[in-house]
Amino acid sequence: MRTEESENDRLAPVFVHDEPKYFEKEAHLYPPEYEGHFESLVMTAETIRSRVRDLAAIIKEDYAGMRPVLLCTLKGACPFYTHLTDALQDLCQGYDMEFVRASSYEGTSSSGNVIVSGVKPESLQHRHVLIIEDILDTGTTLAHLVPHLEDVGKPASLEVCTLLDKRLEEPKKYVAKYVGFSIPNHFIIGYGLDYNELYRDLKDIFIISKEGISFDRSNLH
Ligand code: HPA
Ligand code: MG
Repeated sequence: MRTEESENDRLAPVFVHDEPKYFEKEAHLYPPEYEGHFESLVMTAETIRSRVRDLAAIIKEDYAGMRPVLLCTLKGACPFYTHLTDALQDLCQGYDMEFVRASSYEGTSSSGNVIVSGVKPESLQHRHVLIIEDILDTGTTLAHLVPHLEDVGKPASLEVCTLLDKRLEEPKKYVAKYVGFSIPNHFIIGYGLDYNELYRDLKDIFIISKEGISFDRSNLH
């Protein structure tokens, strides 16, 4: 039997401290149009990959004998979803794949309006559903999405696995069961996370610079 304490330890996120991480430009791969757009490093692709494998092992343990529906939230969670499902394959853990579009963000602030689309309720019915998220910020998106899916999909269970959880002053509107990393409160980009649809195509995660925020993308084709 696991005690509550050991269960909390088992599910504890990796803590990324507040101090900025300086980085050697040469050590990172990124498209040339992003030059000067990173303020500091949050985590490398290797750090992400290693934690994703740990999360897969925890999920395999918890879903033993089940075939969960892994519900990817588009577009941000795509890289995380790809690497997590790959790690689950290595562990011979089966799953079904579904995708949902849910967003509450415009620019760098949460708008509070959540739009859900793209998932058929029948695909969730009586199933163990695990939502795969890139980032948990205020929790606005999940606080709408989770009850909505429970209501229309009637799943047997519904949990959330988020790669990142931003540390905020105020309480969150939703708390996820599985969390990869607890991160400081900055606007970050990379590994699926965007700023106005840029930077999803980065392997690593960075804090965006002022230059990145004010970049005019209209001459990129
Ligand atoms: N970056 C990108 N998208 C986000 C963030 C962030 O820091 N927080 C919530 N959505
Ligand atoms: Mg976004």
